[in-house]
Amino acid sequence: MSLRDRFGTDVLATGWGHSPFGKLPDQTLESLVVSVARDALDTAGIEPGQVDEIYFGQFNSGMHPLGFASSLALQLSDDLAGVPATRVENACGSGSAAVQQGIRALLAGTARTVLVIGAEKMTHAGPDVVGAALLGADYESAGKESTTGFAGLFARVADAYADRYGPVADPLAHIAAKNHRNGVANPYAQLRKDLGFDFCATVSERNPIVAGQLRRTDCSPVSDGAAALVLTTEPVSGAAQAPVRIAGFGQANDFLPAAKRDPIEFAGSVTAWQRAMAMAGTTVADLDFAEVHDCFTIAELVLYEVMGLAERGKGRQVLDHGTVLPGGALPVNLSGGLKSKGHPVGATGVSQHVIAAMQLSGTAGDMQLGRARRGVVHNMGGLAVANYVSVLEAV
Ligand code: COA
Repeated sequence: MSLRDRFGTDVLATGWGHSPFGKLPDQTLESLVVSVARDALDTAGIEPGQVDEIYFGQFNSGMHPLGFASSLALQLSDDLAGVPATRVENACGSGSAAVQQGIRALLAGTARTVLVIGAEKMTHAGPDVVGAALLGADYESAGKESTTGFAGLFARVADAYADRYGPVADPLAHIAAKNHRNGVANPYAQLRKDLGFDFCATVSERNPIVAGQLRRTDCSPVSDGAAALVLTTEPVSGAAQAPVRIAGFGQANDFLPAAKRDPIEFAGSVTAWQRAMAMAGTTVADLDFAEVHDCFTIAELVLYEVMGLAERGKGRQVLDHGTVLPGGALPVNLSGGLKSKGHPVGATGVSQHVIAAMQLSGTAGDMQLGRARRGVVHNMGGLAVANYVSVLEAV
């Protein structure tokens, strides 16, 4: 059953914009927001005065002094004066939170054209500020001193996985190498270097341990960047590319305290996945690609199991069998993922939807899959606490 059958309307991604991700000292939060919003409206063939609502995904948590940025998008045009604009925050899932709020507004019939923006400016702040801000997303560590930041939390996931299922260092290096290789084709990516398995698998001066058994190549970088998406209920005749339909979406939040979660189950991601798949009436076998939240390589390994590509503890098999490689049955993170593309946290979920829309409209350039009919986006905030999955399909 389509969204139109269920709710009486389609939701279409009709235009989008994506900044380069990386260290962008010449850009401000405002310039990033305005430039991607302009590109999204231009490629949608929509005038600013046609926008009914704006949702802005940003985590911030002290990284940027402006704590109230929802109206920044209005800097694009005086015609946006009076448009309702709301900042949406759910840690590293803030971007998808904004996208799903936009979808809900369209399904509720309170808007027909929504502008969704995700942005984060991180690299101007020192590592201590960024580390403390990110740890603000963790129940136990928020406000406490830490030398290993969020990497320390995911290092515990890697250790728990290894204790239960066996060594993970090599599968994690395979994931890092895959995503670094994929990222070479992504013009927006921060780290466009095919580092190779041996580099990623070897602890060295250039690839030191960051936390536990996680090497630098097992971590996403600290990034600036923004992405924007125009969502509409109807196709737009002046759009620069074919629209892409939202086929289903799901959100599930898990408990904040780590003691109330199995660290390697990602139970909230499982529920979000099931909700999105059920709404789209599809299964993993019917997907052509996935963009998933590899903030650390161990997350992508667990997510293979969440997606049902492998039994619990056997995620490494889909690397050995080539399932998730380009050309495999379900290529994962053709964009390079957070690992290579970068992770400006509030922008990430919007970026994943934009990349998926590019694939499905045949405008992904060097990242383009030959045949892409249906794809999935997975984005999460915290350690699988706020979980979002969206299914998108070509029209
Ligand atoms: N993966 C691969 N290479 C990376 C990298 C990463 N994550 N981060 C930086 N590099 C490279 C840089 O490009 C640079 O290469 P060059 O010397 O060839 O130019 C080199 O490593 C040093 O960069 P630098 O920025 O000094 O690295 P760093 O050691 O200060 O930071 C991390 C690396 C991994 C500690 C940092 O990126 C980090 O904290 N990441 C995690 C962010 C996070 O927690 N996000 C939230 C997730 S939930």
